[in-house]
Amino acid sequence: MSIISKIMETVVQAMPDKKPDRLIHQKKYIGQAINRVDGQLKVTGEAKFSAEYELDNICYAALAYSSIAKGKIKKLNLSAAQNAEGVITIITHENSLKLNKPVLFDPSGRSRGSAAMDIDILKDENIYWNGQPIAIVVADTQEQAEHAATLIAVEYKEGKSTLSFDANKSKAKTPSKVMMEPAEIKIGDAEKELKHAAHSTDNFYHTPRYNHNAIEPHATIAAFKEDGRLVVFDSTQGLYGVTRTVAGVFSMKPDEVQAVAPFVGGGFGGKGSVWFNTMLCVLAAKQTGRPVKLNLSREGVFRIIGGCTPSEQRVAIGADENGKFVSIVHSGITATTEHNNFPEQFSFPIRHLYASKSFYIGQKALNLDTVANTFMRAPGESIGTFAIESAIDELAYKMNMDPVELRRINEPAKDPTKETEFSSRHLIEAYQRGAKKFRWKHLPPKSQRDGEWLIGQGIATAFYPVYRFPATVKISLFADGTAIVKAAAHEMGMGTATVQLQHSADRFGLPIEKVSFQYGNSDLPEASFAGGSNQTVSVAAGISSAAEKVLEEFFKLASKNKNSPLHNLKFEDVEAKNGGLFSKNDSTKGETYIDILKEAGKGFIEAEATSDMPLEIQKYSMGSQGAQFCEVRVNEVTGEVRVIRWVGSFDTGRILNPKTATSQFRGGIVMGIGMALTEETFFDERNGRIMNPSLAEYHVPVNADVPNIEIIYNDIPDEHTPLGAHGIGEIGITGTAAAIANAIFNATGKRIRSLPVTLDKLL
Ligand code: MOS
Repeated sequence: MSIISKIMETVVQAMPDKKPDRLIHQKKYIGQAINRVDGQLKVTGEAKFSAEYELDNICYAALAYSSIAKGKIKKLNLSAAQNAEGVITIITHENSLKLNKPVLFDPSGRSRGSAAMDIDILKDENIYWNGQPIAIVVADTQEQAEHAATLIAVEYKEGKSTLSFDANKSKAKTPSKVMMEPAEIKIGDAEKELKHAAHSTDNFYHTPRYNHNAIEPHATIAAFKEDGRLVVFDSTQGLYGVTRTVAGVFSMKPDEVQAVAPFVGGGFGGKGSVWFNTMLCVLAAKQTGRPVKLNLSREGVFRIIGGCTPSEQRVAIGADENGKFVSIVHSGITATTEHNNFPEQFSFPIRHLYASKSFYIGQKALNLDTVANTFMRAPGESIGTFAIESAIDELAYKMNMDPVELRRINEPAKDPTKETEFSSRHLIEAYQRGAKKFRWKHLPPKSQRDGEWLIGQGIATAFYPVYRFPATVKISLFADGTAIVKAAAHEMGMGTATVQLQHSADRFGLPIEKVSFQYGNSDLPEASFAGGSNQTVSVAAGISSAAEKVLEEFFKLASKNKNSPLHNLKFEDVEAKNGGLFSKNDSTKGETYIDILKEAGKGFIEAEATSDMPLEIQKYSMGSQGAQFCEVRVNEVTGEVRVIRWVGSFDTGRILNPKTATSQFRGGIVMGIGMALTEETFFDERNGRIMNPSLAEYHVPVNADVPNIEIIYNDIPDEHTPLGAHGIGEIGITGTAAAIANAIFNATGKRIRSLPVTLDKLL
């Protein structure tokens, strides 16, 4: 740690706490299972997704992809494609406008760019991965563009590529940081303690490549308006990331670019940064002078959008006679590229989960010639919890101890590696409640059977950090008693608008139907990107800041007026409720917003504000946690695994809307089931080609794969977060694969340490 960050941390530690949010315990709209405000729009097809905007004179684009992993394009033969019906133009490195290099996403703040890879776009003949776009074909219809793209003939000069993860492991290096945290942590001598421990386990765990498969493939429409301003309808998790990245690439000012994405059909991290498709669509619009639509095919998503790294992780745990940990080692390797900077944080959970006398935590990364890996479904935490939570289970069986009990006795009082206080941690309670609901009983391996089906139960801890970023929000409150909240936020299915309306209504003491929420457009104030499960609390803090300003304005107006019941009060003495400001001590004393504006002869009051820096995250150890319980059946004859029962018990601060929250947790667990059992990207190490770029061969869980998933939660507010809430988008995925692998061990006595657990591994 640098001296400056050490000093910063010390200063933050000494800072007094902010007062807890006054709405933490309020039960009006917040906490209610309110239906999604946009539910009807979605089920009737009225909600418009990026590909669905209709623009005059629009044309359609398709991409051609490199079929080598590294080298140069020697010759392009475009004549067949150019002569195909409907083709307007084909843009390649030979005729592309010269563009600037995209600026990479930077986790430390609002950077100039949010690109997933900093490779020049169609600049020259160089190839960096198998799947790289080498041409964009623009035609009158989608079908014509796709067909013509298949007619492009390419001759390559192949270069030497690095493709095998296993063969190149020795080249892995320790990165300077892992998402702003140190890549390595040493506390005591973990190897020595391990050697002398009364009980120990020490194994390697492997996870494969995974690819993104949101129901909405990445789609963009780009159009230059008459005033030169560019509008980009783009399926994105970060509107301002799009405006900044595109502006940088095309030498424009960020406010000359407008990004629009009110509805996104799933992101999961794959739409968190800006990929080639968005920039190529803008390029085509610029070079044709017409609006262009670029819908990636499902194959296109596999070729040019990255996914989750493959990983090899070592977990070793040493315990004393009683099961108290004396040593924890969690180290391993992930794959990145020369053109991004994302060593996935598999070691983050272990930094916060268990007390131990010693630790060695270390991440290394290795560069391969592939599309860049990226954020995907709790990146790092999902694969990291598979390794660590499998290892804890292994140790529990070795010691003949209930794995719930082994976790309980190693629950830390303080953050075990940062040594800061937890802001809110009730994991043991989540285990107790989950165990009761699941009727958990620790039975020996291979002790339950129903005919040829072996039955087993498994558990694992879920963990995801709490992130918050500053967010800007604008609020207007009108003379008719309605309010509009504006923020460039995203709705990808989480319930963003629903929850922030609940919040805004409570913040102002207005009926929820009097408040509306505008989002999904970069012409609105910069809220926060939707990633790292941060958006709900970030936007909530922005709303609180803007609301405070609006309320102060109302109070100033009213208290100036001698006839107002608020005249002799102080702002601290009033609260927002019943459609106005009222005395905290005497709720009959006050005025409605309507009356205040009427008396002042004003039409509305409006304020914009940006929430403060998230210093609480430095002061406290802030995480969400949970306990996953599952039951599986494994067919002894075929090796088929069915997940048949699930209880997820979460400790994630206050639950803002039980309906949307339950759906988020469930969705995460469904993804975890895919990760554990069926999903895997087949990568040909000879040429860098993804071999299963379709949903026919890359199996994401469908209804028949998913049991009834019961969700419970502690619902204990965290006093250090807006509304007492934590982000909950990603935690459901964590621990899930380990719970399944642990249940499979309980059923069969077979310990599978490499995902996915396909039937061949069980026979
Ligand atoms: Mo999430 S993988 O940060 O969208």
